[in-house]
Amino acid sequence: MRALTNYLAALLLTDFLPSLPLASAKHIMIPNTSFNSQSDFDTDWNYLYPWGTDHNGAARMSKSQVSLSGGVLTLTARRVDGEKPATHGGKQIAIRYLSGAVHAKEHFNVSRGGGYDFAGEFRATTTRGTWPAFWLTAVQGWPPEIDMAEWKGSGKISFNTFNTSSQVRARDVDYPNPQDFHRILCEVRDANGRDVSAKFWMDGKLVDTQYGKGFVGAPMYL
Ligand SMILES: *[C@@H]1O[C@H](CO)[C@@H](O)[C@H](O)[C@H]1NC(C)=O
Ligand SMILES: *[C@@H]1O[C@H](CO)[C@@H](O)[C@H](O)[C@H]1NC(C)=O
Ligand SMILES: *[C@@H]1O[C@H](CO)[C@@H](O)[C@H](O)[C@H]1NC(C)=O
Repeated sequence: MRALTNYLAALLLTDFLPSLPLASAKHIMIPNTSFNSQSDFDTDWNYLYPWGTDHNGAARMSKSQVSLSGGVLTLTARRVDGEKPATHGGKQIAIRYLSGAVHAKEHFNVSRGGGYDFAGEFRATTTRGTWPAFWLTAVQGWPPEIDMAEWKGSGKISFNTFNTSSQVRARDVDYPNPQDFHRILCEVRDANGRDVSAKFWMDGKLVDTQYGKGFVGAPMYL
């Protein structure tokens, strides 16, 4: 059963090198060919979450739920029974689905005067109970977390930045035509030597600007 699918294509990440004077000093970290073949994928990506198969929901990640075809990465969930529960925050969570996740091999650390562009083309379901996400989270401790696009099964798309678990800027907007690809761009920059600004764009329109407290110098997983 294809309970949920999430497609990414043409993912391009650019690192703005602070030591170079030109605004055009860009370095491509993950090329938009990274889903073209298994060897392209293996250069930049690993399967699962950086910490393993489970997170805070009812899906367990499995390599079997990730496929590559025609330059598109597809993540598909399917219903399962008999999986042992996950443990998160001291609680047990029943596992009802197997699903797919991938993470970048590189870590992303916004340096002084620097930043990154994270961009991709996505086709995400908004079916109730699903939660596809394109996000950055802390390598050490938590936060930083920047949710560059999340679809929480409500029909909306969400953009969020966490300073703490209770101090969160969250912006939900309409997500038109889920059957079509949408271009997501998140421009992450040093704002003042300590905090990071994140500009969230969808289909070429700026949706929100948010700030992460003390995110400069903190390595993040994609
Ligand atoms: C892929 O990236 C290259 C630059 O590295 C650019 O010239 C090309 O237009 C990009 N293709 C797409 C489909 O975005
Ligand atoms: C998070 O911290 C930054 C930097 O202090 C601040 O600009 C921003 O408003 C804070 N976010 C929230 C939701 O309070
Ligand atoms: C972040 O990047 C800077 C510059 O590349 C480096 O000096 C620093 O050690 C990195 N910090 C961490 C925690 O990885």
